[in-house]
Amino acid sequence: MRTVRVNAASKSYDVIICRNAVDVLPYEVQKVCPGALKVLIVSESNVAPLYLDLVKSKLKINGYEIISHVFEAGEQNKGINEIAAMWNKMAEAGFTRTDFVIGLGGGVTTDMAGFAASTFLRGIKVIQLPTSLLAMVDASVGGKTGIDIPMGKNQVGAFWQPSLVLEDISFLKTLPDEVFTEGMGEVTKHAFIMDPELLEKLEKANGDIRSDEALLEEIVYMNVADKASVVGEDENDNGRRQTLNFGHTVGHVIERDSGFTKPHGICVAKGMGIMIDACVRAGTLDTSDAERMKNLLKLYKLPVTDDITPEAIVEGAMNDKKKRGDTLSVILVNKIGKAEIRKMNKEEFLKFLSV
Ligand code: GLY
Repeated sequence: MRTVRVNAASKSYDVIICRNAVDVLPYEVQKVCPGALKVLIVSESNVAPLYLDLVKSKLKINGYEIISHVFEAGEQNKGINEIAAMWNKMAEAGFTRTDFVIGLGGGVTTDMAGFAASTFLRGIKVIQLPTSLLAMVDASVGGKTGIDIPMGKNQVGAFWQPSLVLEDISFLKTLPDEVFTEGMGEVTKHAFIMDPELLEKLEKANGDIRSDEALLEEIVYMNVADKASVVGEDENDNGRRQTLNFGHTVGHVIERDSGFTKPHGICVAKGMGIMIDACVRAGTLDTSDAERMKNLLKLYKLPVTDDITPEAIVEGAMNDKKKRGDTLSVILVNKIGKAEIRKMNKEEFLKFLSV
């Protein structure tokens, strides 16, 4: 069992990573939610048939009243209607401020469970049980919670740190290949912006980190440690945390233009490929590092480009929530393991993408 301590400014908590981590759930929950009598488990239609009963059975020993909210899987359901249904269920069951929420699923689920918890009774505890690679290495750690609105992804939300994140590597066995590949978008991003050792490990694994569970556990651990160090320094996304957006400014535009039908991690990979090329053209990244990064993306079956135009990227990016005033924080990689935040206005960003 490996544990990463996240020391965010607002709260410190453990991320426990191991195979069969769900076995320790009852004891760990007891530690972080003393006095709890009720729990709402939030999950979705692909994950619930696999793991909801298992989680409920583990929690039986705690004697909680357990209610659940299972929504139809998909980004298109990451909206206020599901959150309102969760609020109503908790209110009807008489939840108090010592009761808590569990998010059991991928990033959509952990974001929504966190947001429902952050807003109900002005904030109750949430425990995250991520079941996808993307949620394990990124979404469930760091306290970004929220929902989409028609104007954009994650436009409404709150910073609300979990009390515990329990990452059961065994859950990844049932993850469809394409969903696993999507998670590799965020894994490779961590390697590019801050972790050359991770990059080497991924290269050595030669495109397969799935068949060896011990290696998979180690890689998830390295990613969580990376993310924890960033969140520990900048919980509220005013500085270093913005480097986690490498590839995301472009990726979010591609994702939104597809009506959220293209998976997030795939769009991020495309965004990273486009940014790698732009960094080389602008002279901020040398070609050998760029080649290594793009080869790694390809090795893990991720795309490295898209036919979106620079004009469309810039137009879309100017509606992004990462914009401050007229300025975007554009994330560049100067060499493997070193990211830079560069402020650009619309014209500068267009020039950067087009040079
Ligand atoms: N997913 C990026 C962040 O948590 O800041």
